Parts: sequence; C-alpha cells; structure tokens
Amino acid sequence: MVKPPAQRPYVILNAAMSLDGKIASRRGDSALSSPEDWRRVHRLRRRVDAIMIGINTLLVDDPKLTVKGPRAVGVPLKIVVDSRARTPPDAKILTHTHKGGVLIAVGGRAPETRVKALRKAGAQVLRAGETEKVNLKLLLKKLGKMGVKTVLLEGGGTLNWGMVKAGLVDEVQVAIAPYLVGGREAVSLVEGEGFPTIRESFKLRFSGMEKAGEDIVLKFRKTR
Ligand SMILES: NC(=O)c1ccc[n+]([C@@H]2O[C@H](COP(=O)([O-])OP(=O)(O)OC[C@H]3O[C@@H](n4cnc5c(N)ncnc54)[C@H](OP(=O)(O)O)[C@@H]3O)[C@@H](O)[C@H]2O)c1
Repeated sequence: MVKPPAQRPYVILNAAMSLDGKIASRRGDSALSSPEDWRRVHRLRRRVDAIMIGINTLLVDDPKLTVKGPRAVGVPLKIVVDSRARTPPDAKILTHTHKGGVLIAVGGRAPETRVKALRKAGAQVLRAGETEKVNLKLLLKKLGKMGVKTVLLEGGGTLNWGMVKAGLVDEVQVAIAPYLVGGREAVSLVEGEGFPTIRESFKLRFSGMEKAGEDIVLKFRKTR
C-alpha cells in the first residue's frame, strides 16, 4: 500500500464481478466470489481501518462485514453511506458488531427521528454536508481527522461511481469470476451517469494479478 493522500484516507475499491462487469444479477444476487477470493477479501479487511458500503448494498445483502483471521490493526470501523438514514436499526451490521463500531454517514436532510433510532441502536451518526446526498469528499476528510488512514470501499456500483467521480479512489482490486450475468438492470462495477469520454474517465495503471480459485484478481492503482 502506498502513502495515504494528504488529509484523507487511502481508498481501495474492491469487488467481485462477472466477466461482463456485473457485481450483482438483476435480482441483486451478488454471490460471485469463490471461497479462495473470500479469503483474499478477509486479508484485505484485516489490513484496513474502515470498510465502506452504500445503503442499497446494506438493504439488499444485509451484510455483517465480519473480518475473519488474525487481526493486523484493530477491528475496522464499518461505514454505511446512507443520505436519508434508511439503515434499519436491526440491520446485522448493527446487531452483530461488538468491536470496531458502525458509522452511518447521512446527508443534511436525514430525518432526526431516524438518526436518533440509529444512535440508540449503537451507531455513530455523522452528518456529511448540508445537501441531501452525503458529501463524500467531506466524509473522507472527517474520517481522516478521526485517524482513519485506509478505507476498503465495498460498493455497490452507485457508491463506487460517487467515489470515482469525486477522485477519492486510489486503488482498485477486482476479482473476475467466470460468469456471464447480463441484464440492463444488473448492477455494474461502476454505475452513475459515467464519464462522457475515455479521455475524461478514471485512468489507472496495472499493479498486480493473482489467481483465487477460479477467479482472477486484477489490481490497479491511480496514475498520479
Ligand atoms: N459483487 C460485489 O463485490 C458487490 C459488492 C457490493 C455490492 N454489490 C451489490 O451491489 C448492489 C447495490 O449497488 P447499488 O449501486 O444499487 O447501491 P449502493 O452503491 O450500495 O448504494 C447507493 C446509494 O448510496 C447512497 N449515497 C449517498 N450519498 C451518495 C453519494 N454521494 N454517491 C453515491 N451514492 C450515495 C444513495 O442512496 P441515498 O440517497 O438513499 O443515500 C445511493 O442510492 C447490490 O445488489 C449488492 O449486492 C456487489
């Protein structure tokens, strides 16, 4: 891992995707990773200070974001990017997290009643900006001030786009799984409106490759 950028954590975008670039099927099934790839993901989770997901991923998958294996640095903080504080107070991330803690990043207009319910359920709630959507740059800056040096961004596609568009992704690791999923409605690695031209898009440089069972893991870093 290279030196974190000044004032904000170093961000690694990680996902498992099909050969055709989907991270879930049109029904939201995202079971693409091989057991070997899951071991790689847990190795990554062990190295970071925080794991970040979007609210849709939480609502579809209800993940625990557990970290298996020996820990290198404390248990990572779990972050949900959730403008409207829609995280259910009984989400597994809240009921199964005993260490590391959960931070729900909300927008300026998140209803106070839901914010209170999340605090009562044990989450730290952080208002990132005054606009409706979470201001990702501000969130990352606040995380930096809290001492978070590395963030593992685990999607989904809409949050990945928000982070890429804001220039907040430093490294990408994708496990390419041997499936063709298709579907216009199926979520791709990066969603949103996309860049208008390749020249304006996010250019990376290859930094490594490994095999994880039937999956091929490709690693890229931001060009400076
Ligand atoms: N295969 C994999 O590795 C993998 C990994 C993760 C997820 N997935 C799959 O991805 C799917 C979910 O992806 P998704 O694209 O629908 O949703 P997502 O990225 O999980 O969540 C997107 C939501 O985040 C909230 N958000 C708040 N501020 C934002 C900002 N500044 N920029 C972007 N988003 C912001 C928005 O909802 P609000 O406005 O309500 O806040 C937005 O709709 C699920 O099916 C999941 O299983 C797959």
